[in-house]
Amino acid sequence: MYYDKLIFELSTDGRKGYSLPKTDVKRHDVPDHLKRPDCPGLPEVSELDVVRHYTNVSFKNFGIEKGFYPLGSCTMKYNPKINQDMANLPEFASLHPYQPLDTVQGMLHVYHETQRMLSEISGLDTFSLNPFAGAHGEHVGLMIMKAYHRSRGDEKRTKVIVPDSAHGTNPASATVTGLESVEVKSNVDGTVNLTDLKKVLDDECAGIMLTNPNTLGIFEKDILEIAKLVHEAGGLLYYDGANLNPLLGFARPGDMGFDIMHINLHKTFSTPHGGGGPGSGPVGVTKTLKPFLPKPVVKKTNEGYTLDGETDLSIGQVSHFVGNIGVALKAYAYLLTIGKDSITDIARFSTLNANYVKESLKDVYHLPIEGICKHEFVFDGLKDKSTGVTTLDVAKRLLDFDMHPPTVYFPLVFKESIMVEPPENESKQTIDKFIDVMRIIANEAKEDPDKVKGAPYTTVVKRLDEALAARKPLVKYKDLLDE
Ligand SMILES: Cc1ncc(COP(=O)(O)O)c(C=O)c1O
Repeated sequence: MYYDKLIFELSTDGRKGYSLPKTDVKRHDVPDHLKRPDCPGLPEVSELDVVRHYTNVSFKNFGIEKGFYPLGSCTMKYNPKINQDMANLPEFASLHPYQPLDTVQGMLHVYHETQRMLSEISGLDTFSLNPFAGAHGEHVGLMIMKAYHRSRGDEKRTKVIVPDSAHGTNPASATVTGLESVEVKSNVDGTVNLTDLKKVLDDECAGIMLTNPNTLGIFEKDILEIAKLVHEAGGLLYYDGANLNPLLGFARPGDMGFDIMHINLHKTFSTPHGGGGPGSGPVGVTKTLKPFLPKPVVKKTNEGYTLDGETDLSIGQVSHFVGNIGVALKAYAYLLTIGKDSITDIARFSTLNANYVKESLKDVYHLPIEGICKHEFVFDGLKDKSTGVTTLDVAKRLLDFDMHPPTVYFPLVFKESIMVEPPENESKQTIDKFIDVMRIIANEAKEDPDKVKGAPYTTVVKRLDEALAARKPLVKYKDLLDE
């Protein structure tokens, strides 16, 4: 079988990627015991080979800089280069966490200001930027919830209510925190069913986890009533901030009655996502819960910024130092670039884009929930079910058009979920192209279903066993060729 040679296979003894004049520095032999016994085994190639290697490898991956990425529940937005430039400034990049505090005041200022801006945006009293991701933020938030009840001698509260439309990390976080998740059925549109909620509100309830808008892109209109019910039952409200994008500048979880929340900086605030870099899931709390925050806490004093957090109630340290500070720096740069007056544009345009796509495709894809959505919405597969073409087939076929598929088979409330989230910074041309491609695929499904079922045709690997590929990935090129 023909394949592009790996950089190691291109290696030729003695080939170099540089030319240097003969050295006139006196030679000093390294003592034998410090010498490695063998060569390091690096490929010996030219500069051009190296450049082509990395360029080609990067093309094999899909990223937001390659094409449209409408991944529902994930807010995959472009990461402006200025954020990266700021994080790369040597004044920030070369800092060491063990430096004396008086030499890292600038970075602590960025941390503190980011905290302050997140508080203003969310309506919660204060934030810790220490957690590393959304799921980590959930775990930390639930540790705070648990510690709060324990501090009041309320040991019985071990149950966390999670709607059936929630992201899988919610019940998982409850379990790793030593709490029990109790599922409540949602209404058809994914909103909380108040009758079912009332049935599970008792003196064992530690709290409820909600995202608003929910994973179907629908705003929870009864949120004030839900907050009242949960608080009256002695529980706390946790806000999963993955869907914060369409609320920016319009509505705040703190005002809705939430006590704890996380924000995914790598979603809403445009820092690289997933394989693109480390994440950050700041956790915000009300004034009452402040003493439970993880340590260290960055504090502003008359003498400058300090690291504090030695309260008896703190849940302790959850990350190295104060978390992924470089990520906070990128989010800070993004927030300053957008500015307070324009932040509502994010919510406006992401909502407009989602509704535009939904309305443009609902004659060919099945839309189970009509009406205006927020930043995302869910189709339940193709409208014409007689073709046998599934959501997975549509997702694979999109790859041939250089588009990342939307989230598929989530939320679990529909059999063939296609969850589309077109972020605010995509142009109308890009969104129209996506609509055209989705219509082409719907048409192909009718005219030539096998074509869609056989996709993708243009990718390095075709259809993988999805479960096996995730659990036992073949990461060596040769293993893949042997398959
Ligand atoms: C609704 C929701 N909650 C939580 C998470 C977890 O966030 P992270 O991937 O940053 O751990 C996600 C991630 O996609 C999500 O969509």
